[in-house]
Amino acid sequence: MSHFLDIHKTDDAELRKIMEAAHAMKAARAGRPKGATDDDHPLAGRIVALVFEKPSTRTRVSFDVGVRQMGGQTLVLSGQDMQLGHGETIADTARVLSRYVDLIMLRTFREDTLLELAEHATVPVINGLTDRTHPCQIMADIMTFEEHRGPIAGKKVVWAGDGNNVCASFLHAAAPFGFELTISGPEQLDPEPEFVQGARAQGASVTFDRNLETAVAGADLIVADTWVSMHDAASTRERRHNLLRPYQVNEDLMALAKPETLFMHCLPAHREEEVTSAVMDGPHSVIFDEAENRLHAQKAILRWCLGV
Ligand code: CP
Repeated sequence: MSHFLDIHKTDDAELRKIMEAAHAMKAARAGRPKGATDDDHPLAGRIVALVFEKPSTRTRVSFDVGVRQMGGQTLVLSGQDMQLGHGETIADTARVLSRYVDLIMLRTFREDTLLELAEHATVPVINGLTDRTHPCQIMADIMTFEEHRGPIAGKKVVWAGDGNNVCASFLHAAAPFGFELTISGPEQLDPEPEFVQGARAQGASVTFDRNLETAVAGADLIVADTWVSMHDAASTRERRHNLLRPYQVNEDLMALAKPETLFMHCLPAHREEEVTSAVMDGPHSVIFDEAENRLHAQKAILRWCLGV
């Protein structure tokens, strides 16, 4: 049984296998209706629980559609509607759900919740985002880069803004996928040192450049994200906006990058805040391919977890 809890907890060769499977599965479906099942029905007879303690559009829909395309069934559950939100322990929830379903995808707040669920579940668990990491997103991002520009190894990725959970998963991915990561944001919002030290210890090239204009020189990929994440207190909004305003990705900034530089954002975006509409809808942007690839990358992750 294989959990997919974080990129750095998954063997490098297995990550590459998942990535190749995602590319192949996407290619195999080209031109088919979205509701058509894959030819091999790898999840036939399987039920997947999708548990959300936070809002979601992409994760909810892409996992649900992905399981259906592979011939499986889903249960989409809200943490608030379950006993999970009313005092039942995570361990007991894990044991009970494991008697009903073949795999659990969890989006939650605290990483500890995910880890406790995985410890006590007897079926695979997938991390659908915690306050600390978002590994499925980064698998989709790497897939998107590679389908547009080829292997990401040796390329320069620039993270613009808040050192949040998505940034943390980029740090986890830098060594296994072999890209250079430059983080450009205010020092006050740097990613946790553990993530940076861990990436460097694995051999990743991680640099900080407080000036986004110099950071994007030679970039192959620029990534932005919201300035206020779901787990950030509303009271921090003004401070975060003030700190992050110099890190907006706009047309003037993209003009300093290469013509072939890609722009990504995991979405949802706040247009005219962390990124302008001109960039989101402009020639560098691959944000909707990125959103689509959540589906294909996660289908490959589901198959890997279930060994099918
Ligand atoms: N990027 C992402 O995880 O989107 P959702 O929050 O809509 O799932």
